[in-house]
Amino acid sequence: MTLLVTGGAGFIGSNFVLDWLARHDEPIVNLDRLTYAGNLENLAALRDDARHVFVQGDIGDRALLDSLLAEHQPRAIVNFAAESHVDRSIHGPEDFIQTNVVGTFRLLEATRSYWAALAPNAREAFRFLHVSTDEVYGTLAPDAAPFTEQHATEPNSPYSASKAASDHLVRAWHHTYGLPVITTNCSNNYGPYHFPEKLIPLVIVNALAGRALPVYGDGMQVRDWLYVKDHCSAIRRVLEAGRLGEVYNVGGWNEKPNIEIVRTICGLLDELRPRADGGRYDELITYVTDRPGHDRRYAIDARKIERDLGWRPAESFETGIRKTVAWYLDNADWVTRVQDGSYREWVGKHYGASA
Ligand code: NAD
Ligand code: TYD
Repeated sequence: MTLLVTGGAGFIGSNFVLDWLARHDEPIVNLDRLTYAGNLENLAALRDDARHVFVQGDIGDRALLDSLLAEHQPRAIVNFAAESHVDRSIHGPEDFIQTNVVGTFRLLEATRSYWAALAPNAREAFRFLHVSTDEVYGTLAPDAAPFTEQHATEPNSPYSASKAASDHLVRAWHHTYGLPVITTNCSNNYGPYHFPEKLIPLVIVNALAGRALPVYGDGMQVRDWLYVKDHCSAIRRVLEAGRLGEVYNVGGWNEKPNIEIVRTICGLLDELRPRADGGRYDELITYVTDRPGHDRRYAIDARKIERDLGWRPAESFETGIRKTVAWYLDNADWVTRVQDGSYREWVGKHYGASA
């Protein structure tokens, strides 16, 4: 038995691969294009582990997909691969359409051919798990109920529109062709290996460097935060017991305005790594021009996954953010190599021409 994971060198994917192989002996084939967001150093602990097979490649490459599926015969595919940063999608939406829409389409088509040719038992057991986001639902008014799986899809950014498009393709491949798919829509993640372009890691690394902490607009936009390892446990549970064709929202009931997140991180850093000049980290907070089309509030109603699959997050925001800040303090070398770009040399150095 083998899993094919796409995008397994990114933030959530690498946490998933590490957590999976810490619990199971079932091998993982990890297909990742290694864009700027892919960092094989995240998976350094698996370098000599035969259960992890890394393949550098694109989910949009049909020939590669066909050969990987034929060679490794996975019993499931978990699709993390995506362009994931809203700000980048505003400046350059093309890559988002190529990977999130066209790439998902090609992956679905390759999967369909592979799945159709499987023996009946393997066909029955096969799963395609598509990892998506709460951002496809659009924005919520301050007093509106959190997003359920029935909420209309109303994406507002090029990123969320491309993810919503991929969700629709996945749904259609189930309804039209019977492909055994399940989709998860999760809220904002945070934790180890988070690329420091996103709010939480950016604030930690900027604060430690004494740089400004940019808060968009009034800082009162609300996000619903989940520790990444809880997202990974939800995906494992859905893979194990989720019902075919269903959508599961994943979240930790942790709605917070951005400014509160930034102040919490500043307080933890004041405690764990006080500034040498005796100042407080929150003096670095700088309000900057808002993101265009900025969604005001996301919130996930996670009752379905709890009721039907018994999944609940293990971390509260307080425990998760403390672990996250501690991880960045303990992994200053990882941050340095991400910031100076040397993390991109990891493939050549450690995998040679095979990657
Ligand atoms: P990320 O940007 O950190 O990682 C994406 C990974 O996909 C990278 O390793 C990248 O190299 C790879 N990739 C990009 N294009 C590819 C392609 N064409 N072919 C193969 N690999 C490709 O993203 P993330 O934060 O880890 O998110 C993973 C998934 O989870 C995404 O689908 C995202 O939409 C979804 N998601 C993210 C969050 C979040 O808060 N980060 C929340 C909910 C859902
Ligand atoms: P981000 O981490 O980019 O995730 P997303 O846009 O997918 O929710 O941003 C989280 C929130 O933080 C979002 O409301 C935008 C805001 N933000 C800032 O205020 N300053 C920043 O420098 C960044 C990167 C984000």
